[in-house]
Amino acid sequence: MEELISLAARMLSGSNVTTVSTGAGISKESGIPTFRGSDGIWKSKNPKELASLEGFLSNPELVWKWYMQRLFTAREKDPNPAHLALVDLEGMIPHLTVITQNVDNLHRRAGSRKVVELHGNIEHFRCLECAHTADFDPEWDDRPPRCPECGSYIRPDIVWFGEQLPRTELEYAFDISSRSDTFLIIGTSGTVQPAAQLPIMARRNGARLIEINVTESAFTGQVDISLQGKAGEILPLIVNEIRAENSS
Ligand code: OAD
Ligand code: ZN
Repeated sequence: MEELISLAARMLSGSNVTTVSTGAGISKESGIPTFRGSDGIWKSKNPKELASLEGFLSNPELVWKWYMQRLFTAREKDPNPAHLALVDLEGMIPHLTVITQNVDNLHRRAGSRKVVELHGNIEHFRCLECAHTADFDPEWDDRPPRCPECGSYIRPDIVWFGEQLPRTELEYAFDISSRSDTFLIIGTSGTVQPAAQLPIMARRNGARLIEINVTESAFTGQVDISLQGKAGEILPLIVNEIRAENSS
């Protein structure tokens, strides 16, 4: 393991354009559950009911309450050593972008500056019908509020199943991935498209891939370096190694 960590550190410190793709696994050590796996959210909850337009239309209150709960959970948790190590890394190597599938806002709260949120952000809301957007309002209660402009429902600005990803973010993600020379994949099962295409596309364009995950993922067979373990333990080791290299 030590050797693999040194190898990853050297790969990252020599990288001009680096992309990091994160999934629910990076926030697990903050106390936010993942989606798949034995204790994942989708084991006990139905994504069609809670994370689709049809689900929202058939029971707006149920879906609204669930997102409010997730918002409050995310707010009460803190970024963990993995989020913080990525902030350090951003300051140590030339051009690092974090592309996340997470909506928990923890990368931004940790202090990462270049963050692309592919699936939205739990703090943001928009109208179901018109272009009105809103940030969370403490006056809101257990029912979805109405849009001040058109009277329709306000919904979470989060990508639901069957919906398109935000276009600017997606285009940027594909562009920077294809120009990366190192691509770091952290805590994602690699089962949700189009996010799962990014490392594959990066690799096709010459990037080397590093993965950090507690188990095997859809990517494990295709990466150059697979680091098996917790992101909050492994990432700080990599960052320390780069720091030591730089100061020697
Ligand atoms: P998943 O729940 O599918 O996968 C989480 C991954 O994190 C798994 O591969 C775990 O092995 C790994 N993992 C768990 N703890 C870890 C740790 N401490 N360190 C490193 N890895 C760890 O989550 P995602 O791949 O993010 O979409 O799921 C993708 C999308 O599916 C989500 O964005 C969400 C969901 O439906 C939407 O809500 C649109
Ligand atoms: Zn509206």
